[in-house]
This record gives sequence, C-alpha cells and structure tokens, in this order.
Amino acid sequence: MYSPEKDGEVLLKGIKMDRKKTVLVSGGAGYIGSHTSVELINAGYDVVVIDNLSNSEKDSIEGIKRITGKNVPFEIVDTCDQEALKKVFEKYEFDSVIHFAAYKAVGESMAEPLKYYTNNLISFMNIVEMMKKYNRPNILFSSSATVYGEAEILPVTEETPRQAPTSPYGNTKQMSEDILRDCCRAYAVLHGIALRYFNPIGAHPSALIGELPRGVPNNLVPFVTQTAAGIRECLSVFGNDYDTPDGTCLRDYIDIVDLAKAHVAAVNRMVAGKMEDKYEIFNIGTGNPVSVLELLTTFEEVNQLKLPYKIVERRPGDVTAVWADTAKANNILGWKAERTLGETLKSAWEWEKRIRKI
Ligand code: UD1
Repeated sequence: MYSPEKDGEVLLKGIKMDRKKTVLVSGGAGYIGSHTSVELINAGYDVVVIDNLSNSEKDSIEGIKRITGKNVPFEIVDTCDQEALKKVFEKYEFDSVIHFAAYKAVGESMAEPLKYYTNNLISFMNIVEMMKKYNRPNILFSSSATVYGEAEILPVTEETPRQAPTSPYGNTKQMSEDILRDCCRAYAVLHGIALRYFNPIGAHPSALIGELPRGVPNNLVPFVTQTAAGIRECLSVFGNDYDTPDGTCLRDYIDIVDLAKAHVAAVNRMVAGKMEDKYEIFNIGTGNPVSVLELLTTFEEVNQLKLPYKIVERRPGDVTAVWADTAKANNILGWKAERTLGETLKSAWEWEKRIRKI
C-alpha cells in the first residue's frame, strides 16, 4: 500500500509551490528523467519526481540534488496505480507533467507484449485522466523516432508518415501519441507535446547521473562502455553490409543533456501559452547521421582506449538509417543540440568509470 511518509521522501511539506513553475516528472529517477529534472531545476522550475524504481535507482535522486543543490520531492509511485497517482495530484500543485515512466526494451516487448501494453498504456492514460480531472493543462510525452521505421526519405521531418510498428514497444509509443492527440482535441484543458527522441546517449558532465541498464544492455553505447570497462568481452557490431558508406547502420545520437534541455524548451512553450496547436510534435536529434563504426572510432579516440569488437549478423528489426530533420525544433522551440559526439562519448565513459570505480 502506498504511503508517502514511509515510501517516499517528502521534503517540501508545507512549502507553497508556484504551480506555473512546477513540473511533475513521472519516471524522474530514470535515465532521461533524471537529466531532465536537473535542467528544469537549472532553468528555475520546481520539480516533483515520481518513480516506481522498476528500472532506476534512488541514487539518481541524490545525484539530482547534488548537481542542483536543491531538494526534490520524491515519491515512490507506480503510475499504473490510480489511487497513488490521485494522492500526488491532490498533494502537489503543478501545471505541467512530463511523462517518462514506461518500459523501453524492444526485445522484451516482443516476448512479453501484455506487460508492455498494460504498463505503458495504462500509466499514460492514468496520467492524462488525472490531468483532466485536476485541471492540469500541460503534458509532455516521451515518444521515439522508432515511429518512423524505415523511412523512404531522410532526414525525417515531423510530417514523415509513421510506419506500422515493428514491436509492441514501438506500438505503445504510436498509440500513446494518438491518445494524447485525441485527448488534447477533446478536452479543453489539455495541451500536449510529443518529443520524438532519436538515440539518447552520454551522461551528465558531473558523472553523478547517467544511464544504468539492468542486465545485458540492448543499446549500443552502454554496451560500448561496459566493454571498455571489461564487463563485456567483446562488442558485436550488428552487420556491415547495409547500404551506407561503411556498411554499418546510421543513427542520430543525441546527447542526454541536450535532450534534457529540449524538454525545458518544450515546457517553456507550454507554460507561456505559445502553442499554435493543442497537440504538437517535435523531432529531437542532432540532424547528423553517424555510423556504428564512426561511433566506435570516436569513442576510442576521445577516451584513448581500444575496444574489442567483431562484426556479426544483422540484428532483426534494425533499420538501415534514420536521422532527424531538426528545423522545427530549432525554429519553433529555439532549441539546438550543442555537445559534440566526442564530448558526449567522453561523458558516457566518465560515468561508467565512476559507477564501476575504475
Ligand atoms: C533502439 C530501439 C528503438 C528505441 C531506442 C531507444 C531497436 C530495434 N530499436 O534503437 O526502438 O527507441 O533503442 O534508445 O531495438 N548496435 C550494435 N551492437 C550492439 C548494440 C547496437 O552494432 O551491441 C547497433 C545497432 O544495430 C544500431 C545501432 O547500434 O545500428 C544503435 O542501436 P541501439 O542503441 O540499440 O538503438 P536503435 O536500435 O537505433
């Protein structure tokens, strides 16, 4: 049974928060949520974090506090638990919500689709429902470039048609976008933005927060840093016979701090009442395609080390190439990726070294 006093840390009891400048961050102890919480606080927002810690650690809340020097009200809440969520909405005043809390492993979603549909959709609908009920106007949803699939024309703009999802995970992103669009249309109070992330990588420059995958990582950069740390023997490069300059897949790797700042820009837009439509979509990437081999070489160069790797079969489901047209985010949000790939890959390694005590 949920109990804020027992389960969470309620640090701001009795302190009045300005609801326009307060953001509820669901999944705020996770990789993207923790970095976004830091940037929101740096930009002058108050943040309330909820997280069920199913794929994150409480240490990241400590990291947020250490980086910002601010207290962060944190409650262990599962967003699928309507009663617990209701208590959060009754307890805190906030105009904006950023919803990160979701499962994100593509392979696992194929093996356990119901787990993904139940968790990702119910938690999102609960959030939207509470916002409607308690008159909280602004919601920002974490979507993914996975919605574009194998696009015919690159880079992809927000107008590029979405493709049929290739995994239940990807389907929950598309379905959540649609739920948000329809709810923003139907309910006067609601305004929504979906950010379609490309490939988030790296860590905060302080190395106090970063990505902490449980078990064997699915994504490239955590696998790279764990291989460099000696936890994995050898990195497998999934295919070098793609129709790309060096035969390996092309992706748009976006620095996690840059990505976090995109959320601040989007919240600013909502809070300032500047949205042109009640539901808007933005691509959040760098606009630069990078191959797997380029990424590995850059990692080796900036960190002065050698990575053992071998070329293996293609991974089923991988698209050849996808990268973002970032004009809409640049022009309308006034946001642009700033850190270089080298800086980002250095930060990823600094974080891995800190958590492994290397
Ligand atoms: C993956 C998901 C995507 C999700 C995103 C979240 C798939 C098919 N797609 O994107 O839906 O939104 O993560 O961050 O899983 N690679 C290797 N060796 C590895 C790991 C990856 O060569 O050990 C290659 C992949 O083939 C790919 C690139 O690295 O070309 C990036 O892979 P990854 O980090 O898993 O991201 P995506 O597949 O682009």
